[in-house]
Amino acid sequence: MRSTGRMLVGLGLLAGGVGFFLAGMGRAGDDKAAKEGILKIADAIAKGEAVGDHAKALAKKIEEIDEVMNLMRPRKGTKGGLGVGSKPGAIQPDGIELKLVQMGRDAPSATAAAKQAEALEKMAHVIAAIAEVTMARPDKKKPKNWIKYAKEMRDAAPKLAEAAKNKAPASLQKAAAAINAACISCHTEYK
Ligand code: HEC
Repeated sequence: MRSTGRMLVGLGLLAGGVGFFLAGMGRAGDDKAAKEGILKIADAIAKGEAVGDHAKALAKKIEEIDEVMNLMRPRKGTKGGLGVGSKPGAIQPDGIELKLVQMGRDAPSATAAAKQAEALEKMAHVIAAIAEVTMARPDKKKPKNWIKYAKEMRDAAPKLAEAAKNKAPASLQKAAAAINAACISCHTEYK
């Protein structure tokens, strides 16, 4: 009897272990892994750390590029993105892509630039992080332009961070438009 009990406990532990292992592997379209990974890389970028290896690791972990792209969708919705700022809906539009489009078209007011400075700086680091992962995961058939556009996105992001820090409406507009141009170039060619 005692040995059966021990065996059952053993089986239980084994089943638990397998479950844990499977959970750790991540399922198809593991958006949580992408989200956490991007936020970590964005934090490292904010600190001025090198992120190449982390970006490569996350690029390997995701199955499709839209797992990181979706993070730039509005926060609300089924494939909800990261939004803009820590408080949902406080800043509009509450999605990175829409924010870039709007800010690239109309410079924010000085008041908005001051109020949203911290959120916009963080957004810039998230954009840089997504660009790093995108660079590390080029299109297999046509890698050259893919990497070029992803680099344009990555290189424009620090200008957005700088403009946010300076609370400078015109620079914010210029940087947002430059980033947006990189998004559009790549989507036109690859989507
Ligand atoms: C190097 C190429 C590349 C760059 C640069 C790029 N994207 Fe994408 N993006 C893609 C591809 C490819 C898809 C389609 C993925 C799919 O549907 O499987 C996509 C999909 C998306 C999606 C999700 C699907 C949708 O249509 O809503 C969003 C949101 C998005 N991108 C936003 C952006 C934004 C914002 C930028 C710039 C800040 C950007 N992307 C830059 C390649 C790129």
